[in-house]
Amino acid sequence: MRIIQISDTHLSPGKTHFTDNWAPLARWIGEQSPDLVIHTGDVTVDGADVTEDLRYAAELMRGLGVRFRAVPGNHDVGDPRHSRQPVNGERLQRWRTHFGPDRWVEDVEDCRLIGFDAMLLGSGEQEEGLQADWLDVVMKAAADRRIAWFLHRPLFLDSPDEGDTGYWSVKPQPRSWLVERVQRHSVALVASGHLHKAHDFVRNGTRYIWGPSSAYLVGPRLKAPPMAGEHRLGAVVYDIETGAIEARITQVPGLSLRWIDDVVDEVYPRRSDERAAAPLGSLNR
Ligand SMILES: [Fe+2]
Ligand SMILES: [Fe+2]
Repeated sequence: MRIIQISDTHLSPGKTHFTDNWAPLARWIGEQSPDLVIHTGDVTVDGADVTEDLRYAAELMRGLGVRFRAVPGNHDVGDPRHSRQPVNGERLQRWRTHFGPDRWVEDVEDCRLIGFDAMLLGSGEQEEGLQADWLDVVMKAAADRRIAWFLHRPLFLDSPDEGDTGYWSVKPQPRSWLVERVQRHSVALVASGHLHKAHDFVRNGTRYIWGPSSAYLVGPRLKAPPMAGEHRLGAVVYDIETGAIEARITQVPGLSLRWIDDVVDEVYPRRSDERAAAPLGSLNR
């Protein structure tokens, strides 16, 4: 069973800065003959506010002709407790209308793949508690299956014990709850997106994969904290057999290399009140 993880496509019919990377990605996916495609979020440029971005991106995903699952990113449904784009019931409903559930289970060979909504973590929304209860239920019901998680924002950048990294990883409190589950259930794999970097490492027996974006790289203008990983575009191929999950981060032929730094003022302009309130330091502004 072959699964392809793609991430951070940042698609929009109105802001077409990264659209031309879709065709080579779609062509390459077709050549891989996957059984399932998993999108780990930031499907859209601004689905959190622009419904048309969600509609357009979902149409492109359906156009792959391969069954897919997706989890939302901050640009798709907003961020927890964000001042301008908080994740909320209305935004979740819009996501679900176009992409289906923001949390899901796929049983593949002897593995249970669990996708969930990292944007709810620390949000205080009612859905956050419902998702936590659901996660405990589906983890327990996995029984002897090996478990792989798919979410947008990585649990941590360097260490499960690290402090608050702001925009870049899950906040310490929901993170410790999740890390406890990773250990208790010996989660085999945690795959994420969001960082627009490629990285593959093992921590405490769990493999962590940062799936690269197929749209753009993030340079110094965004003031990310120091972190591991490679600045490269691409995707991840998983070959799952009973007893083995093979994973490799790979290049996708034909992708044009772009840096958000060069176009951030067009793609993610800050409003004047935000410009006064916060220094340039986060994409979701
Ligand atoms: Fe992204
Ligand atoms: Fe993101």
